[in-house]
Amino acid sequence: MEKLIKNGTVVTACDEFKADIHVKDGKIEAVGRDLSVPGAQVLDAAGMYVLPGGIDQHVHFSFEYKGSRVRGFETSHAAAVGGTTTVIEFVNQQQGKGLLESMEEYKAAWAEGKARVDYNFHGIITDPRDEVFGEMDDLVAAGYTTIKLFMAYKGMFFHADDDAILKALKAARKAGITIMVHAENADAIDVLQKELVAAGKTDPYYHAVSRPPLVEAEATRRAIYLARMAEAPLYVVHVSCREAMEEIRQARTAGLPVFGETCSHYLVLDESCLARPDFEGAKFVCSPALRTPDHQEALWEALNLGWLNAVSSDHCGFDWKNQKHMGRDSFVNIPNGAPGMENRLPVLWTYGVETGKISRQKLVDLYATAPAKNTGIDHCKGRLAVGYDADIVIFDPAWRGVMSAQRSLHGVDFTPYEGMEQKGRPHQVLLRGELIVDNGAYVGEAVPGRQVKGKPYGNSYR
Ligand code: URP
Ligand code: ZN
Ligand code: ZN
Repeated sequence: MEKLIKNGTVVTACDEFKADIHVKDGKIEAVGRDLSVPGAQVLDAAGMYVLPGGIDQHVHFSFEYKGSRVRGFETSHAAAVGGTTTVIEFVNQQQGKGLLESMEEYKAAWAEGKARVDYNFHGIITDPRDEVFGEMDDLVAAGYTTIKLFMAYKGMFFHADDDAILKALKAARKAGITIMVHAENADAIDVLQKELVAAGKTDPYYHAVSRPPLVEAEATRRAIYLARMAEAPLYVVHVSCREAMEEIRQARTAGLPVFGETCSHYLVLDESCLARPDFEGAKFVCSPALRTPDHQEALWEALNLGWLNAVSSDHCGFDWKNQKHMGRDSFVNIPNGAPGMENRLPVLWTYGVETGKISRQKLVDLYATAPAKNTGIDHCKGRLAVGYDADIVIFDPAWRGVMSAQRSLHGVDFTPYEGMEQKGRPHQVLLRGELIVDNGAYVGEAVPGRQVKGKPYGNSYR
């Protein structure tokens, strides 16, 4: 059924204005003043902001850490209630298999029929045989235009050495694929972890001590140098600290195509959370680690000035009682990552827009428009413009509440944002024109998510 969103304030990445939106056949048919569409279902957005559906370019629905695996796509309706209508998930290359084969198998087994928002995948190179570097054109043809390599996690099967990163950068460049890196110095972390454990310092707090900002900054700089050698663009994921951001800023100032994101948790949570008693600190173990509050200010500023161009959730649905407790003996064994896919827009609104740190336009850019460009899906996602998918959030700025795992759909027993104040929430959300959230509740059972294929030569090449 056609829909007409009336009386709202449309917010884009560059402006905002009073306008109605006509939705037809899953697409935006018209944006304009006083539209009238006989027979259309009218959604009254008086007093609300109308935003493009969010693109979360960094979620994990299959990440495994020492035998623990996160909750999968069946929990992705939690993204929807948080205003995210497209997620980009990271898929491991299976040992002995190609990247494309691994991604297609994963899609069929774990995403199709389960996803409740639209999706695509970043490949993760875990087995850097020469054949993999010959797959780039096939990956592009299948709609996969981003690949991540893990510089961190020494000894784990998905860790990548510099030779793999350099080869990937060179091969990807020829096909217009964007290489993303998790930039932390794995060897340095390993040394620090062993020293701490030997000294009996095994509590969750020492996770941060074992991964100081310099391990992130060093790897960020190294990745930038490798990208320079390959004459390729680079995207640095989950930048957590001033030092790493500074490496990106310097590269960008020198005219290099180096880009980065940060994540919601680095903007509002700090390393003191890791020191919470009764093993509560384990809830906040993610990598890179949470930092001291001064880094948060540097990250907000970097977002405003364009040194970092997106905010992701790095959602990772490990639960606390069963999975995080694997690390009771040592922080080294605590599964890395925390849930957050439904909190990204609320965090940005409450702690960014409402505090005056970012504008509403900046929010839209960071949470939807730029991530769509970064991942090559901006031909149909991330904008409220005629012809685009009708992925739309009708946002109620007057709503007040607190963030809580109890109300969450993410399928795990905690949220790192527990008890934090929330101002505003997605009142209604449309996915390709279908109502999937109404009055803040998920109602999209009959609306499956679909793959949205990426195009090569994304933002980092432009
Ligand atoms: O701690 C994190 N970030 N877990 C997810 C995997 C990753 O490193 O992105
Ligand atoms: Zn990572
Ligand atoms: Zn991640």
